[in-house]
Amino acid sequence: MTVFNSALTIQKSEKVLSIACTVAAIYLTLGCVEKLFEGNTKLSDEFELIPSPPGAHRSSGHAHQLGRNHAHTITNWQQEFGSIIRLKLNSKDYIFLSDTAAVKDLFEQQKFSQTKERDTVVSASDDKWEKIRKLYNADPLFGIDDILKNEADQCINKLIEGTERMKNVVPLCFTRLYAINVILTSKLGIPGVTTIKDPLYKEIVKTVVTNLQPFWETQKTHSDSHTFCSFLKTAFEKKQDSKQLYESNATTLSGRLISAARRSQQDNFIRRLDTYKLKVSIAESDIQMFLNRIMTHGVENIAVAISWTYAILCCHPEVQTRVALEIDCFCIKHNRLPNFEDQRELPYYVAFQKECMRFRPPEYFTEPRQASTNFIYKNYIISKGTTIVVNIHAMHNNERIFPEPERFMPERFFSNRNKKAAVDQHVFGWGRLKCPSIEMAEKMVFYAVTRLIAKCIIEPQGLKGTTEYPSLEVNQRGSSAAPAAFQIRIVNRESVLDC
Ligand code: HEM
Repeated sequence: MTVFNSALTIQKSEKVLSIACTVAAIYLTLGCVEKLFEGNTKLSDEFELIPSPPGAHRSSGHAHQLGRNHAHTITNWQQEFGSIIRLKLNSKDYIFLSDTAAVKDLFEQQKFSQTKERDTVVSASDDKWEKIRKLYNADPLFGIDDILKNEADQCINKLIEGTERMKNVVPLCFTRLYAINVILTSKLGIPGVTTIKDPLYKEIVKTVVTNLQPFWETQKTHSDSHTFCSFLKTAFEKKQDSKQLYESNATTLSGRLISAARRSQQDNFIRRLDTYKLKVSIAESDIQMFLNRIMTHGVENIAVAISWTYAILCCHPEVQTRVALEIDCFCIKHNRLPNFEDQRELPYYVAFQKECMRFRPPEYFTEPRQASTNFIYKNYIISKGTTIVVNIHAMHNNERIFPEPERFMPERFFSNRNKKAAVDQHVFGWGRLKCPSIEMAEKMVFYAVTRLIAKCIIEPQGLKGTTEYPSLEVNQRGSSAAPAAFQIRIVNRESVLDC
């Protein structure tokens, strides 16, 4: 008995010992990873800490240091501490990247899932999301040029009328109208709105702008009842079943837009998704989420990109003259306005537009991704749950690639003018969440700019005999980098065509 008992005791104590060893090992490993993100010392010769600026608070981390234009602050830090830095923002760890090679390595791997706190109810990185994206990418762009030309002309007419009536106009209001109408017509098959006073216009703008808080504050936005997806929160909190979820959908903006698209006589993306839904299970919430993304990225990025282009043309009259001359030459040669496919014959415009996107990109950051596991990149350890963001602003202001980055110089893009914009700049993101509408986006900007320059002059605002140029200052809201409110004058000029 004694022998048996002592054997048992030994067995037990071995077991306890081995459990204790395992726990200690796990504790040590986790401790090491944690330590890497907490301390500022080198852990070993093999691994290094990702550099982090000093001065982080215990609770808010670096958030209190960001200032009004947080992208500029983060870029300054990246210039000082390197192309990979880590920040603590309101208790969460973030890594900011501005090195193209690192972004490609990391974002094209499968280690990341999408993370936006408000969106976690939908596993956006899963198969279903990929399928929706695939279907969206395959969505035909047939006839899109005609829609864009028509909507661009209407927007330009409104800018001219507005200038005649009020002396000056705020272009962002009308470029938003253009973007909203293109998306409603081409993606949802429903008629656009006619004025910026239309309640639907106001509701969409309000919703899009509400969706643009900095991503480190998005946890706070759960209670926001105006976001496209707010119904999801209520739905999941109350644990509604999918039927109820579908019904609650009808009261939200995205739900109403989706219902209108389903009722539309015209073929559209939502109806094609519905057909596809029969074969692959796609939840109603996934459709809502995708529409949310189309509206937020599509409306605001386009509206902001075109507004910046108009502001830059106004501030650089010599550039405006050169763009106009090139378009006029094209019109005289072909007796028509240029189409998107004619860009080879507009080399100055192409270089100019690329420089606009570099100089004032509509978004400063990509969508945040989250490390789904602990892993090693180069000699850095990146721990599970860390959010990773690409800093587009820092990339576009990299002096090695763009000398004198604060100067507006279309000439810097002359050498590679036939390449697509996406190759030269980083405005459309990377990997699995890269913007799926690059061609459409480039076309939207092209028609709104070339058609305006073919018949108008953009002049600085002039009140009571003064001349006031747009400031080109950025009004940053979350990842969006819109211009600070400015007014210009859009005036008819003598056109070389009767158009
Ligand atoms: C100049 C215009 C545009 C710019 C600069 C732009 C930029 C971006 C960026 C940076 C992202 C995130 C990519 C990433 O995190 O890697 C994105 C995503 C997205 N964009 Fe665009 N975009 C533009 C226009 C549009 C338009 C016109 C549409 C639709 C009609 C659109 C639809 C989307 C969608 C649906 C996503 C989300 C994709 C996903 O989550 O899987 N974008 N865009």
